[in-house]
Amino acid sequence: MSHWPFVPAARSIDIRSAHGSVLVTADGQEIIDAAGGAIVVNIGHGNTEVADAINQATRDVTYVVPPWLTPGRHALADELTQHWLPDGFEHIHITSGGSEAVEAAVKLALQYHSARGNLEKTQILTRSLSYHGTTVATTGLSGHASRKRGLEHALPGNPSCATPYLLRCPDADPARYYRDDLLASIERVGGHRIAAFVAEPITGSSGGAQIPHDSYWADVRAICDEHDILWIADEVMTGFGRTGKNFGFQHWSATPDLLVAGKGLAGGYAPLGGVYAPNRIAQPISDAGFAVMFHTFGAHPAACAGAAKVLEILRRDKLVERAATMGERLGAALRARLHDHPNVAEVRGRGLLQAIEVVADRSSLEPFPIEQGISNRIVGEALKRGVFFYGGGTGDVRDIVCMGPPFVVSEIQLDTVVDVLEASIDAAVASPP
Ligand SMILES: Cc1ncc(COP(=O)(O)O)c(C=O)c1O
Repeated sequence: MSHWPFVPAARSIDIRSAHGSVLVTADGQEIIDAAGGAIVVNIGHGNTEVADAINQATRDVTYVVPPWLTPGRHALADELTQHWLPDGFEHIHITSGGSEAVEAAVKLALQYHSARGNLEKTQILTRSLSYHGTTVATTGLSGHASRKRGLEHALPGNPSCATPYLLRCPDADPARYYRDDLLASIERVGGHRIAAFVAEPITGSSGGAQIPHDSYWADVRAICDEHDILWIADEVMTGFGRTGKNFGFQHWSATPDLLVAGKGLAGGYAPLGGVYAPNRIAQPISDAGFAVMFHTFGAHPAACAGAAKVLEILRRDKLVERAATMGERLGAALRARLHDHPNVAEVRGRGLLQAIEVVADRSSLEPFPIEQGISNRIVGEALKRGVFFYGGGTGDVRDIVCMGPPFVVSEIQLDTVVDVLEASIDAAVASPP
């Protein structure tokens, strides 16, 4: 007998096939994949061009150490630098997932300061609502209580500041409130001790597609510059078109120092993540002779070939533009349907990263008791009705239902998603456990 997953999960479904935005279970039920798995699938399931590219790469070169080049790695590096990465971000370190990439970015920030003689800069500033991964270091960085359970006593402590959360901002002037909070957090530790500030441009599943106020990222840029703190943008979820632009930070005018992005990089066809940086960050590390060590399976040749093809298809079929327009449509439909729903505090998001925040009382913003597991039960009700949503929230603070469908999702499928979401909220609220 096998135990898969390791400990029992709320639900584990046997999926036998998938195409476009649809999953098919072992007993033939069709499920609309309104979350693209864990907000990963972008060009849709079952693309044979990608399958062929991975097949060919496996035949070309099965495996060589990550620093060496292969046809798939060449193709990915060209695609990234010519079409995707911000100007000047030419230094590429490919991992096999998002957590590894965030951790690599943290190490690069530490090495950067070490190379410049700043050995006191050892702290990484993070935010109150965030998710950065599953390794010990990245779990420690994450402002996500439920994913830290049983580990709190052993995780490294990180200084933290407030994630902009406009719905519940305690001050009438959020710009001032969150700027002051960031400054105060830096002062508490001492800017001379902080190597990097790590943050998601649009907060993913921990906070549910939270969009900061307009001036936030410009403030972050200025404050980081003032204190010689590197700004690491964690775009594992938002990168490669998910929010309707290549990267989430591009909705604002400020540019980070290190960019991390995974998930959509290979669209679910292969496990892959990456860190990208300009020469001014890489050069001191290189000059100091520091190693940027690889994971054995980082930049796996077949995964790189698959990712190069996924990125090419995203461009050729104008799917980032489609994520923007379909996301607008989904957001508008959700707002129209749920704007006065008694249990929906807010609909928010950009592009095809959308979320709702569920509350017991919309006027007071009182959450449901945690033991009711309301968002989890909404996800369960939706599955019965043929739609997969991604539950979120930190457990104590709020209940989130996230949406991140493939960019090829149809209008009819989105209409079904909205119908099923409303019916599932009502069903979950009507039948408390
Ligand atoms: C913003 C963000 N960072 C990091 C990670 C960790 O990535 P992975 O699960 O690929 O290790 C995730 C995963 O959900 C994420 O959303």
